[in-house]
Amino acid sequence: MTRDISFDVFLKLSEGNFVHVFSRSSGIDFQRLAGYLQKGVRELYVRQEQWSEYLAAAERSAQAVFGDPGVSKERKIAVLLEMTEQNMSEVFSQIEVREETADKTKQLVRNYVDVMAQAPGSLALILRLVSQGDYLYYHSVAVSIFSIVIAKATGLFNHASLEQVGLGAFLHDVGFVEIDSNLYGKAEQELTPAELEQVKKHPAAGLHRVEETPNVPEGARFIIYQHHEQPSGRGYPNGIRGNSIFYPAKIVAIADAFSSMIGRDSSNSQILVSTAIRKLREAARRDGSFDLPLVKLVDKVFVPKKQKVFKAA
Ligand SMILES: [Fe+2]
Repeated sequence: MTRDISFDVFLKLSEGNFVHVFSRSSGIDFQRLAGYLQKGVRELYVRQEQWSEYLAAAERSAQAVFGDPGVSKERKIAVLLEMTEQNMSEVFSQIEVREETADKTKQLVRNYVDVMAQAPGSLALILRLVSQGDYLYYHSVAVSIFSIVIAKATGLFNHASLEQVGLGAFLHDVGFVEIDSNLYGKAEQELTPAELEQVKKHPAAGLHRVEETPNVPEGARFIIYQHHEQPSGRGYPNGIRGNSIFYPAKIVAIADAFSSMIGRDSSNSQILVSTAIRKLREAARRDGSFDLPLVKLVDKVFVPKKQKVFKAA
């Protein structure tokens, strides 16, 4: 069986020495490909100038897998996360988020919304898989799916607006590209005053990066710009308070804090989830850092009643 391709594929024999194995005229021969895999080949190469064609083809086949009802949930999620990883490097490497990148990101988030609607139990599996990647990848995906789950639980969002929430959440820290990457993922207490000043620029930097991208909807922009505002008025960049903050940005603020608190390695620990929710609740009650009714909803969604016995005192 062969499949037509619009790019050439090479096998690396030694440093600087490549052999042409599949071409645009021959297509990919799967039997031969299986033979290479059996011999231990793990990497094939594509010319740099044909890279975008390869990516487009990879996305088309991933989308086909995703839309096929006969493919298992686990396989679909693995494909979705593979697409996400490729997309992440595009989103976070461009000076401006390009239109086609925004479109691909939207498509990804649409898939996340579908997964969470059809198989809500996939959350733990997704977290386990993304926890193997770097922090930015883990955090972007985790915040996006947490935000989708919380927004869905409010009952106030339709499918299209859930996608906007998921997209804004996925891109929420896109402004960090312009800020020292060593500061990413650090808690505010770990930063010097000068570093904190730097970090506080990332919402505006993020907004700036998507400003010229017409297909990033306004709702997603508000999320990027306002996800560090707090109902108390002590957030940044503008210190706006209460209902002046865009409601989905409050959801993403909670999902962001929740993801940072439970961390990558403990995503399946119900005790830590409960502890994180308790901390969110305290911060919402005592300091007005988060929207309290939304935090209560998080408690309902992420801590099943029967497991509340594990809740930390
Ligand atoms: Fe942020």
